[in-house]
Amino acid sequence: MQVIDTQTRLAAVLEDLREKGKSVGLVPTMGALHEGHASLVKVSLKENDVTVVSVFVNPTQFNDPKDFNTYPRTVSADIDFLEKLGADIVFTPSVEDIYPEPDTRSFSYPPIDTVMEGAKRPGHFNGVCQIVSKLFFIVQPNRAYFGEKDFQQIAVVKAMTADLNLPLEIRPCPIVREESGLALSSRNQLLTPEEKKTAALIYRTLSESKEHSLTHTVKEVHDEVVTRLNACDILEVEYFQIVNADTLQPVSDWDEAEGVVGCITVYCGARPVRLIDNIRYR
Ligand code: PAF
Repeated sequence: MQVIDTQTRLAAVLEDLREKGKSVGLVPTMGALHEGHASLVKVSLKENDVTVVSVFVNPTQFNDPKDFNTYPRTVSADIDFLEKLGADIVFTPSVEDIYPEPDTRSFSYPPIDTVMEGAKRPGHFNGVCQIVSKLFFIVQPNRAYFGEKDFQQIAVVKAMTADLNLPLEIRPCPIVREESGLALSSRNQLLTPEEKKTAALIYRTLSESKEHSLTHTVKEVHDEVVTRLNACDILEVEYFQIVNADTLQPVSDWDEAEGVVGCITVYCGARPVRLIDNIRYR
């Protein structure tokens, strides 16, 4: 496995591989890797000749400097983890290498990026599009892999890829969960063992709400999820929206769209840690 820390060097190595006819898969990450990332790497390894994993905590997608400063950084453990998985290249650039000048490009894909995370974290998706587009230009992958935990991010990245006419396939991969049901996330490292146990209630509640969705209205299911989670001392729902899986706009009826997904963000614990999850109802 090669560890490469500049875009110039990475571009040169990849050009050589592409000339030899090798297909390239990209797994963009912000590090603090876990089994969720491993699942993306494993699919990429199956589908491509070469798998590149980027490890870069992208400053432009954090609208809260405290969140950026406390985001877990575990680069050497990440490199060991990827070596064991059999990744081919790990790209670990510095902020200066990626952004020698401030990135002044702006990306906007309403209404997909104006709701939920887009509304709660202004500028977040602009920053995601800045880094993901740069990675796509540098790596020129045939396929790029994203976890469905960040459901809205996948929709925004697909819109950006189409907008820029980039010839690559966006491959969403299923959420990986702990045994308790808690969706794996780099942020889980910031939870105490007790908080982690309580956070499992998020998925339990979502799963039960899926059953209730067969006999209850969208509003009833929505209200039940929010009330149940907020009843727990250390959980606070930031938003829970039941949306059309394509447009990400709220639905008021289960039959209103072919795909219906419930997207939730919950603050957990004293810090607090911001956790996101989602469930497909239809
Ligand atoms: O999902 C993430 O970890 C990040 O948003 C991504 C896609 C790696 C861009 O920094």
